[in-house]
Amino acid sequence: MNGRIRVRDALAAAEAGGKILVKGWVRTVRAGKEITFLAVNDGSCMANLQVVVEPGLANYQQVSHLSTGSALVARGVLRESPAAGQRYELAAGEIQIVGTADETYPLQKKRHSFEYLRTIAHLRPRTNTFGAVFRVRSSLAQAIHRFFAERGFLYVHTPIITANDCEGAGELFRVTTLNMAKPPLDRGEVDYSGDFFAQATGLTVSGQLEGELFAQTFSDIYTFGPTFRAENSNTARHAAEFWMIEPEMAFADLLADAALAEEFLKFLCRHVLDNCTEDMNFFNDQIDNGLLQRIEAVASSSFAVMEYTEAIDHLKKATVPFAFPVEWGLDLQSEHERYITEQVVGGPVFLINYPRDIKAFYMRQNDDGRTVAAMDLLVPKVGEIIGGSQREERLDLLLERMGQLGINEEGLWWYLDSRRWGSCPHAGFGLGFERLLMYLTGMENIRDVIPFPRTPRHAEF
Ligand code: 4AD
Ligand code: MG
Repeated sequence: MNGRIRVRDALAAAEAGGKILVKGWVRTVRAGKEITFLAVNDGSCMANLQVVVEPGLANYQQVSHLSTGSALVARGVLRESPAAGQRYELAAGEIQIVGTADETYPLQKKRHSFEYLRTIAHLRPRTNTFGAVFRVRSSLAQAIHRFFAERGFLYVHTPIITANDCEGAGELFRVTTLNMAKPPLDRGEVDYSGDFFAQATGLTVSGQLEGELFAQTFSDIYTFGPTFRAENSNTARHAAEFWMIEPEMAFADLLADAALAEEFLKFLCRHVLDNCTEDMNFFNDQIDNGLLQRIEAVASSSFAVMEYTEAIDHLKKATVPFAFPVEWGLDLQSEHERYITEQVVGGPVFLINYPRDIKAFYMRQNDDGRTVAAMDLLVPKVGEIIGGSQREERLDLLLERMGQLGINEEGLWWYLDSRRWGSCPHAGFGLGFERLLMYLTGMENIRDVIPFPRTPRHAEF
């Protein structure tokens, strides 16, 4: 018997009889005079390993008084279990108590609300639901890298600290070393010339602009990193810190962009179905009964494409009441997005060609003079999961648009250079990683799919 074996591997062993060593935390204890059962979990899977302890064990007294949350090391023989629902159990030959937990441990055997569990985010991974969430999250992150690696995309790390607000929505968190109690002023305004970077900087809202530069060298690239938005929207699908995957392809138009997004999302659906079976079955049973069927359908469907203008027509004809107005030229709210994907289409749909005035400056202008080559992928229950576009590669039109929006050319001289030498059509998109997780797990609040959520007024842990 050499090193420790993971519970997942122990339970998947080809045959019983082996001597093994496991390390983990006690989920439940059933203690008696004759025998004690410990359910031990080490995070490697949802299932616990039943450790059977008999009074012959030297420290039986202590072991039978262990409670939920304790850490231990158990050695023994893996044997067929007579109990229903489990193939093997561990007949303990030795138990080393590593760390005890007393009855003040908050995760006692009862159901806790997700709201309560958010207040103990340091412990909630030890519940079945959050164990499953964070295993699926980890598995998906690795699948994402594999998807792009298999297709020859270069992985680029775009900066976290930046001086530009890519999306132009003014949602930058400030990064500064100035003395906040007494910032240097110049004509009543904060003077950043003495700041660390000698200019105003913040946390990035998107790696896209730098990603575009790399696409125009490496052809196909992606970034996958944290992004930050100081938007004060306290909803179930917005976080102030979230992770985004942003591919960018040179020599690509909007249709190629949508094709990649579709292939990507289907790949990820297939991935969780094939690789996260135990956790996905749990979500299907406990969180959202239609989940597996829906993901299976999406993985083998072909996504609809609809013009923004057509979507507006559908919304205007809708008989359900909306809280926000519907008018050509207005942005769609979550309720509108969900109506289109859930009621009109009944599955994922790319909305394309949005009005120019509600989209970012970098999107390619269509010939109609009023729309841009934008695409949002909307999915049932979540709404917008992907936002992307073909980019404006024509320098004169890009400059004209920046002028109209009052965007300073000087700060973006390097971005504009990419339109000066070897400019080419290119396109990309951003997939919100937490929105993806909500979609694939059925979890309904973004706070419950990110380890330590940051939302307005919440930055604990
Ligand atoms: O639509 P967005 O703002 O697009 C961009 O940032 C582009 N620069 C992407 C690109 O073309 N490279 O954001 C992309 C996605 C959204 O569709 C959504 O899934 C997610 O990021 N997202 C958020 N997720 C959680 N909390 C927030 N506050 C989010 N804002 C956007
Ligand atoms: Mg968007």
